[in-house]
Amino acid sequence: MTEIKASTGPKYARIYSVGSATPSRVIDNEFLLQYIDSSDEWITQRTGIKERRWVAEGENIETLAMEAASKAIERAGIDRAEIGAVILSTISHYHQTPALAPKLAYQLGIPDAAAYDISAACAGFCYGLAQAEAIVRAGQATYVLLIAGEVISEITNLEDRGTAFLFGDGAGAVIVGPSETNGIGPVVWGSDGGQEGVIWQTADWHTAVETGVFPKLGMDGRAVFKWATSFIARATKKCLDDAGLTPDQLDVFIPHQANDRITDTLLRYLKLPETVVVARTIRQLGNNSAATVPMAMDALLSSGEASSGQTALIIGFGAGLVYAGQVITLP
Ligand code: COA
Repeated sequence: MTEIKASTGPKYARIYSVGSATPSRVIDNEFLLQYIDSSDEWITQRTGIKERRWVAEGENIETLAMEAASKAIERAGIDRAEIGAVILSTISHYHQTPALAPKLAYQLGIPDAAAYDISAACAGFCYGLAQAEAIVRAGQATYVLLIAGEVISEITNLEDRGTAFLFGDGAGAVIVGPSETNGIGPVVWGSDGGQEGVIWQTADWHTAVETGVFPKLGMDGRAVFKWATSFIARATKKCLDDAGLTPDQLDVFIPHQANDRITDTLLRYLKLPETVVVARTIRQLGNNSAATVPMAMDALLSSGEASSGQTALIIGFGAGLVYAGQVITLP
């Protein structure tokens, strides 16, 4: 048999930088009460959400992704010509093809990078991070730009009192590259297509073309809540176990921002010490789907609540159903 040369790369990878972008339009709970029978008190108590950001005129998935990616590249201090792959995780790009990532790479001045989109809903960033880490360690690219961006407001059913208040728009991006020490633990990921009907899109995009009406997001909130507080709790613990860490070795916890009460349950299950900094960006940003984890990471680092070099546990979960999480060293 003819021997084919295999690619080889550095032993470890880490996240070099993070950047994020939030749209300008602030939507408070009060605003939504013109569409749904609810109250600021109910939404705050049941979810933690006080407000979220939605795109305004001129803002879209492309502008948000460009802003987050530009910040991440600048903060990494690397030569963008050395970015060999660009991954965009999103469920908000209108076109089945071409993907948006090649256009973003071109506009960012990254020449000849492998570029593609992935669709893993709210687990999208952590799915992408697993890919980026593997690409770097296999020597298939020196640096990978991973972007996660969403405009969920466009598929939000304003009249659905089970979902109208949950989601916000935004983008986050990281640069992943080679490292002397390990900065990204083993990914814990999976899916359960048997529960595809738990979070759904009300129509396919072909229908949207015919009717001119966007499909909307639908969800069995109680089923998601139950899955997140049982199965996902165990998966979160496995992220720590697989990284060889105990809860007291963790500095920061960045769970998907789906509901503050889900976060509380995960905290109790993991028995994290009170010293662990916990992301609560849901209060100001809502659930940003794939963009949630990097947006929360950037917010914690920018505010000084978390700092570079600390150990963080991240996990995303959502429609599919899909989930992915890992332990990382903060950039
Ligand atoms: N405002 C006021 N009351 C509401 C309401 C609203 N928007 N929506 C439901 N209610 C009422 C219900 O009618 C019900 O009243 P009843 O007890 O008199 O029958 C009560 O509140 C509880 O309803 P329920 O559907 O059980 O609410 P909940 O506590 O499960 O909260 C969610 C709903 C959506 C906030 C919650 O299920 C959730 O966050 N699920 C996870 C969602 C998620 O994470 N999705 C994305 C994953 S990526």
